[in-house]
Parts: sequence; structure tokens; C-alpha cells
Amino acid sequence: MSVVIKDLTKTFSTTDGVVTAVENINFEIQPGEFVGVHGPSGCGKSTLLLMLGSLLKPTTGSVEINGVDLYSLNNRQRTNFRADNIGFIFQEFHLIPYLNIHANIMLPSVAKAVQGADERATELAEKFNLSARISHVPSTLSVGEKQRVAMARALFLSPKLLLADEPTGNLDQENSHIILDHFKQFADDGGIVIMVTHDAFALKAVARTIAL
Ligand SMILES: Nc1ncnc2c1ncn2[C@@H]1O[C@H](COP(=O)(O)OP(=O)(O)O)[C@@H](O)[C@H]1O
Ligand SMILES: [Mg+2]
Repeated sequence: MSVVIKDLTKTFSTTDGVVTAVENINFEIQPGEFVGVHGPSGCGKSTLLLMLGSLLKPTTGSVEINGVDLYSLNNRQRTNFRADNIGFIFQEFHLIPYLNIHANIMLPSVAKAVQGADERATELAEKFNLSARISHVPSTLSVGEKQRVAMARALFLSPKLLLADEPTGNLDQENSHIILDHFKQFADDGGIVIMVTHDAFALKAVARTIAL
């Protein structure tokens, strides 16, 4: 697993003209790396992460994951590639409000059938210290718990690449530590973590930083 970004640019056409969100970014990330992408608000971090996550087509340039050029795939191939390889932690968690925690964690099984999905969700709940919350709905959880649910869900299909958008942005230091430690563990186990953040505390935890 490697991530190679070449000449990546994204522009949006708006009623006020063309907005360049990401301009000519290049980098390469190897297995086992925990990388922090940083820069001020509005510099294109979320846009970059969506392109890395196969969720937003670049205007120009390419994203290669494990040698596969994401945007040369058709939609179906890309969806399958994402399910097989990429876990995404959204800034606003995107938990489903009417599903309990157990069901939220196993939501990726909609995209890809998994044997023993129930048990896997239960195990992940345990790993993230959510066992007592498994039958509750997201609105009853603390922010730290919600972030751990989002992380458990991102890991459900055992991705090799984990993408996180401002994962500590709403957390206190104790809860930030918990999440950052899980990221470190994921990278130590051979995965890649790309975390977008403007949080100086979170950046201290990463092995490598990329400024936008
Ligand atoms: N869908 C969109 N349409 C128009 N402009 C957008 C869109 N998404 C992002 N932008 C603009 O692109 C720039 C970068 O946004 P974003 O990637 O969200 O930055 P960051 O995550 O670093 O705060 C901003 O100026 C933002 O307004
Ligand atoms: Mg953002």
C-alpha cells in the first residue's frame, strides 16, 4: 500500500467565478506512515482528503493508491476499491441518528458483505470502549464516544488506508490522545493514516507533516 499524488488540482465553478480549492499538490506516502496534513482554514484540506478518499474527482492530476489510479476506474470499480482499501472519518462524524451504535459500526457491510459482521461490530465496540453504549443512538453519546464510533466504523472493513478530517477538532486532550494512539497503532501495524488538521496538539503525534 502506497499513496502517490501527482499534480493534484481541484477547482469549483461558483456564481462568483472559479474557486481553486487545491492547487498542484504532489506527495508520496509509504506503508506504516502516520502523516498530518495541515494549513489554515479554507486552504483545501477537506477537498484534498475527499479526492484521496475516492469521493471527489480532481480537476487535473492523479491519485494512485497501491498503484491503482483511482479516477481511471469506473464508478462501480471505485466503490469496490474504496470498500476494500479505504476508511474515512468525516469531520462531522456522519453517524446515522436512528441507528444504534452497533448498527452504525457495521454500516460499511452495506457496501461489502462481511462474514460475521455482527461479531466484528461487537469486537470493535469493545476495542473502542463502547460496549456499554452498543444499543444506544448517537445523540445520547459524548463527542469523544461519537468520534470512537466513527473510527470503529472506518475500520470495519479492515482498510489499509485511513483518512481523517479534523478528528480531534471537537475533542479535549484526553479524548484526542485516545484517537491519536489508535492512529499510531494502525500505522505501526503497516497501514497508512492521513490526518488533516489545524490542531497543533494533534500534529505533535504524527511522524511526518505536509503543509498545504
Ligand atoms: N463544493 C464547493 N464549491 C465551491 N467552493 C468550494 C467547495 N468546496 C470547497 N470550496 C472552497 O474551496 C476552498 C477550500 O475548502 P476546504 O477544502 O473545505 O478547506 P479546509 O478544509 O482547509 O478548511 C475554500 O475556499 C472553500 O470555500
Ligand atoms: Mg475542512
